[in-house]
Parts: sequence; structure tokens; C-alpha cells
Amino acid sequence: MIFDTGLKLNELKENSFEKITVEREEILIGKRNNRIYAFNNRCPHKGASLSKGSFLGDKVVCYMHGYEYNIFTGKLENMKSWKKDETWIEQNEQWRHSDDLKIYKIHLNDEKILVEI
Ligand code: FES
Repeated sequence: MIFDTGLKLNELKENSFEKITVEREEILIGKRNNRIYAFNNRCPHKGASLSKGSFLGDKVVCYMHGYEYNIFTGKLENMKSWKKDETWIEQNEQWRHSDDLKIYKIHLNDEKILVEI
């Protein structure tokens, strides 16, 4: 289904995002290099809020364990190396596993930003 985000294209600033809730899903919508992205705020690793993370190029970096997801494709592109970090013991493969980030298709209706979920 397609929902009106209540956001307008000219309201989105480059390299920033807005958090909205649609159908009980928290979605981050933002703009980078003039491209609009929309992804679920919940980190697919252990559920941390990605709005508290940081951005690194086209990736969002989760503040909790440092996993990096592409904000346009949703792909998990980098995982923290647990072996190199002395503050963490090596975690088992099941614990380290993460799905890709859930992303959403954006539609534009004039200046209105719509999201498909
Ligand atoms: S909860 Fe996001 S990387 Fe672990």
C-alpha cells in the first residue's frame, strides 16, 4: 500500500532525514546526493534504533554494534570485526547474523513524498 508521508520534497535537506511512523513501522526518510531513501528504523541485527546511528557515505552505521547497511539497497555491507576489538569477545555466527535492512519504495506526487509498504 502507498501512504502519504506528510513530507514534501523541498522539506528534505541533503544529508538529513525525517522519522515518520506508518502502520506502526518507524521509517527514516532522507536525501543523499539528491536521491531519496527510506528504510526501517529498526536495525535488522538486534533491533537498535538506526536513527541514533551515523552515516558513512551511502551507509548507515548502527550505533549498537557498528553494522553498516546501504541506505539505497538495504544490503548489509560491513560487519564489525569482533576479533579485532578487545572489548568484545568473539560472538557466535548465529548471534552475528543479520538480515538486510528493510527499505521502502518512494513515490512522488508533485511535491508530496509517498512511501510504499
Ligand atoms: S543492533 Fe544494530 S548492529 Fe547490532
